[in-house]
Amino acid sequence: MKKFEDAIDYPLITKEEIKKRNRELGQQITNDYKNKNENLLIIGILRGAVMFLTDLVKEIEIPVQIDFMAVSSYGNSSTSSGIVRIIKDLEEEVEDKNILIVEDIIDTGLTLKYISENLKARGAKSVRIATFLDKIERRKVDVRADYVGFNIPDEFVIGYGLDYAQDYRNLPYVAVLKHSIYE
Ligand code: IMP
Repeated sequence: MKKFEDAIDYPLITKEEIKKRNRELGQQITNDYKNKNENLLIIGILRGAVMFLTDLVKEIEIPVQIDFMAVSSYGNSSTSSGIVRIIKDLEEEVEDKNILIVEDIIDTGLTLKYISENLKARGAKSVRIATFLDKIERRKVDVRADYVGFNIPDEFVIGYGLDYAQDYRNLPYVAVLKHSIYE
């Protein structure tokens, strides 16, 4: 049986820190959109962003709509190729809507660059990005998140939605994966 302890190098962000930060981000998003008197459509990127999205939306004090998209990038799992394929598209129209993309982590930025350009091309009124984690030093393309949970160093992390080969998403906090697991 796989155990979390065997995969974890060290814990990076605690449950309590996540809860506190989500509350702060929810407040910030509420303040930024509350006077707009327009719909806000939150788009979660499957599957990694699910935990962050469900906690974050409960901290937003205006009604929002929620939809999901799933993408895959060609190439192997550890390096992003920049070629992104939509494997599950939205059910809602985005034209003339204020969109907030919710993502688990920005690494090279290639995935989010593709998604945000795709949504703008469909006629979104505004496109903003909320990311739970940001590995800014790994960025290859210019993508800036409007809301960032935590900036983290260049380490492979698991938990709170983030996986390694589909495992560990249900770890309730964020931990650095042992290098021996993937080396
Ligand atoms: P990007 O296109 O390089 O920004 O890739 C972002 C995607 O890579 C994320 O949505 C994650 O699925 C994955 N990813 C990048 N770094 C990590 C990590 O440390 N742990 C788990 N997944 C990661």
